[in-house]
Amino acid sequence: MKILVATQKPFAPIAVQGIKEVIEQGGHELVLVEKGTKEDMIKAIADCAGLIVRSDIVDKEVFDAAPQLKVVVRAGAGYDNIDLAEATAHGVCVMNTPGQNANAVAELVMGMLVTLIRNRYNGTSGTELLGKTLGIHAYGAVGRNVARIAKGFGMKVSALDPWVKDEVMEADGITPVHNLEDLYKNNQYVSLHIPATEQTKKSVNKALIELLPKNGVLINAARKEVIDEESLAEALEARQDVRYVADVKPDNAAMLEEKYPERVFFTPKKMGAQTSEANINAGLAAANQVVAHLKDGWNRFQVNK
Ligand code: 3PG
Repeated sequence: MKILVATQKPFAPIAVQGIKEVIEQGGHELVLVEKGTKEDMIKAIADCAGLIVRSDIVDKEVFDAAPQLKVVVRAGAGYDNIDLAEATAHGVCVMNTPGQNANAVAELVMGMLVTLIRNRYNGTSGTELLGKTLGIHAYGAVGRNVARIAKGFGMKVSALDPWVKDEVMEADGITPVHNLEDLYKNNQYVSLHIPATEQTKKSVNKALIELLPKNGVLINAARKEVIDEESLAEALEARQDVRYVADVKPDNAAMLEEKYPERVFFTPKKMGAQTSEANINAGLAAANQVVAHLKDGWNRFQVNK
């Protein structure tokens, strides 16, 4: 059977090689569409049984064009780019690869933070992370890796996640927080790791951001949709000490960069998971999951049940 890997943002070549080997060892054929448009994906998918994507949009149009499709694996964590209802309506199993790129994203979070507080390495006097407070908004795979690295910097780490038991956080040396307002009020740095869902979209707003203590920093390596962008602009205007750092540029990034050049920092392109290691981990996991599903219906990480 044919398995399409359609990635607007390509995996590292070494990961593509590994994916190819897994697919061929499973008795299938790799079809590779890198840096393509949605039309390119639609053309290539007509006779494919499996699809591997990253943040690429997989919607009704794609499912309608894929009569033989049985499984889609999002090589990564967030699957907000995939229309799950349409997948189910078309009888397609959708899976993600939880945790496989989490360390890469977490390392970038800390890197962005250091870049900001050392004034983008311009030689002027910055600040340090040692002894500072970090609040983690959602303690999933990325949040846990951020906590692990932040503890290495000597930060005091706390986290809010209604799905994670206090004992789990405590065993990690993290203080559990049960109230969202407290998380923002009591931490100089807050790092967002919530997925973009109907409940979380635009949920981080001026009211929350304004709770940050003096010189507070909000870091977003999750999704731009979770921030209420208008409200973010208002918060940055009202609180001239607050800073915002993101690997997921808001739509109003250019305006914010012009107005607050010292207080906002955005990577040019979302690149949290863009490392060879993460590409290999997530890419190979995705390839193995597609092959396993096509073999015997394996669906451990199915997200459209
Ligand atoms: C994820 O959800 O796994 C991350 O946001 C990485 O996304 P990417 O594959 O588009 O880099």
